[in-house]
Amino acid sequence: MTDTSVSGRRILLGVSGGVAAYKSVYLARRLGDAGAEVRVVMTETATQFVGTQTFAAVTGVEPVVSLFDDARSVSPHTDLARWPELVVVAPATAATLSRLAHGLSEDALSATLLATTAPIVLAPAMHTEMWDHPATQRSVSLLVADGHELVGPDEGHLAGGDVGAGRMVEPEQIVAAIEQSLAAGFDLAGVDVLVTAGGTREAIDPVRYLGNRSSGKMGHTVATVAARRGANVTLVTTSSLPAPGCEVVKVESAQEMAKAVSAVSCEVAVMAAAVADFRPANASDDKLARTEGPPKIVLEPTPDILSSVVAREDPPLVVGFAAETGGVERAVEKAKRKKVDLMVYNDVTAAGSGFGTDTNQVVFIDADGGTRPQELMSKTEVAQMLWTDVHHMLVQD
Ligand code: CTP
Repeated sequence: MTDTSVSGRRILLGVSGGVAAYKSVYLARRLGDAGAEVRVVMTETATQFVGTQTFAAVTGVEPVVSLFDDARSVSPHTDLARWPELVVVAPATAATLSRLAHGLSEDALSATLLATTAPIVLAPAMHTEMWDHPATQRSVSLLVADGHELVGPDEGHLAGGDVGAGRMVEPEQIVAAIEQSLAAGFDLAGVDVLVTAGGTREAIDPVRYLGNRSSGKMGHTVATVAARRGANVTLVTTSSLPAPGCEVVKVESAQEMAKAVSAVSCEVAVMAAAVADFRPANASDDKLARTEGPPKIVLEPTPDILSSVVAREDPPLVVGFAAETGGVERAVEKAKRKKVDLMVYNDVTAAGSGFGTDTNQVVFIDADGGTRPQELMSKTEVAQMLWTDVHHMLVQD
């Protein structure tokens, strides 16, 4: 394993309090054997499961546990935060996930996570009930939207003899996630990128609109991942989800989105927005009243934003999204008709691929119509794959 992308890299291992902490010792060893420089920051609770001496013996450096009694530094969390090229938290307990999701810095680990700009890979471990709890799932959604990467959890044996979802993935899988994240690195440095996201709202009157179910999560994740990989990202979106590192232009209708997009010059355009194809031609200036009876809503076409980008004099590399309710054939036809360089198809009726989910099962469709089906994965992983593809295309040009 000495030739992997982990070799020579500075990796900070965060350990929070769960039984799976024993596996993190092996993780630290694996990373060290692969040539990485590893330091460890632990919560107090984690020390109940594995002693600091064990990590010190494996990494050669005493772990940081407290913000206050570390003789090596007056500000251990900021020193630690600036040091790594990547932070991996394994195990990441429900409390640690929630602290990071909500910006709470209560101990050396959570303060370091808040202070670092390095990519963060989280390997959750907890009981199934805790993983399934809406509060944890809310935190997970926030963390994914913030651009953090989650690996796992798996199903299997948990503490106390229970079996279910919430088991930390094996160290090998965590190492693979770290390698993927590091390999992605800064390969889009300086590339001007435009991303559209969210579902448009087409006014019927000042109160009502015609809309769709798109949450904007996929597009915001695509934008955030590009920014993390060094791109200059302009995100034209209808959604209020976070998009750290991106310049955000908030719009509502297809018309507004088209106008905002036309003002952005870019080398790559990823059109992840769910744009209404038609809008009310006769939107009322005043709120329609029930007493007036059912309104007659006449529709007219909206501008095809993607096509206007493809038709530019010096067109960027264009990636389209096709959210369909049937097989991939319609998306293949669409990819060719719209002349995109890459189309990302998903079936919105498939499990885990619907609107508002954190996961997606996609098929990448190349310009020649060739299809590359993918497994169900997190939207962050889809975004990483998309940008790796785009990067290859940019390098080939
Ligand atoms: N798109 C766009 N502007 C529109 C309609 C779609 O930019 N007015 C983009 C979407 O962002 C997406 C791609 O075109 O990247 C495909 O969108 P989709 O709605 O599936 O395609 P349509 O051409 O509208 O086809 P249909 O609605 O008939 O499936």
